[in-house]
Amino acid sequence: MFRKLALTTSAVLALTGGAALAAGEAIQVPDVAFAHEGPFGRFDQFQLQRGLQVYTEVCSACHGLKFVAIRTLSDAGGPGLPEDQVREYDKQFTITDADTGEDREGLPTDHFPHSSLENAPDLSLMAKARAGFSGPYGTGMNQLFRGMGGAEYIHAIMMGYEEPPACAADFESDGYYNRYFAKGAIPDACKNEEGHSTIEGSWIAMPQPLSDDQVTYADGTPATQDQMAMDVASFLMWTAEPKLMDRRNAGFVSVIFLAFLATLLYLTNKRIWAGVKGKKKHA
Ligand code: HEC
Repeated sequence: MFRKLALTTSAVLALTGGAALAAGEAIQVPDVAFAHEGPFGRFDQFQLQRGLQVYTEVCSACHGLKFVAIRTLSDAGGPGLPEDQVREYDKQFTITDADTGEDREGLPTDHFPHSSLENAPDLSLMAKARAGFSGPYGTGMNQLFRGMGGAEYIHAIMMGYEEPPACAADFESDGYYNRYFAKGAIPDACKNEEGHSTIEGSWIAMPQPLSDDQVTYADGTPATQDQMAMDVASFLMWTAEPKLMDRRNAGFVSVIFLAFLATLLYLTNKRIWAGVKGKKKHA
């Protein structure tokens, strides 16, 4: 029995050990305390509006948001734009009508356009596609309190443009060195004998999109690179998970309901067996 238990324990340890190693290979991105994180987190409506502005003025030049319907910009729990503003907003897009085949002004019922640059990925679901900070491993407490890391990743990519490391002095690339981008090209001079990279990051095809004061926020928030990166990351978290708040609320209601039900069942159980248990005591 004990041997079996010991074997199982060591197998579990070996498995989790392996998982920790695999997780260690990814580049750790810095944590950011976003308003939507934590068990009571909610999206900050004004941050989402600023993020929408950054997306519209900067990112949309290359990236699409094809899965997001423009009308959802007025949803509660999201950017919550008044409907007349949404109607104004969508007019800037030219949409080829699916029925008539002709170009027309955008309508709230349309989705955001596709990416206009071929190699720029669609950003609708990016914050979920790149989640993984704190791993899928562990007890889940990190994810509960610090989020899944997709928004952190986007923030990190925006902030990760640096001077290339010394080993890349002779490297010719169309890309830009970003210390949080893991999937791009790495010069041979920055690899060891086994072909593993000796540097953090790699070369990304996207030029640095954000720098200080690139946009002017209507609410007077200073548009630092960091602020814009957080705002757009938060906005992209919302596009990827617009029902985050609803899901969390539903979760709370079910937990409270289950606690209530458990108490009722416990009391009912006591009552049903009270006679039998009582008798035993006297016997
Ligand atoms: C000039 C065009 C251009 C602009 C503007 C631009 N991007 Fe990109 N972006 C790209 C391209 C191209 C890629 C693909 C990079 C690669 O795979 O090497 C990319 C990739 C990305 C990725 C994915 C990285 C990954 O892990 O695959 C994210 C996230 C991203 N962009 C976010 C943004 C945000 C947010 C903005 C606005 C603040 C923005 N981009 C503005 C061209 C652009």
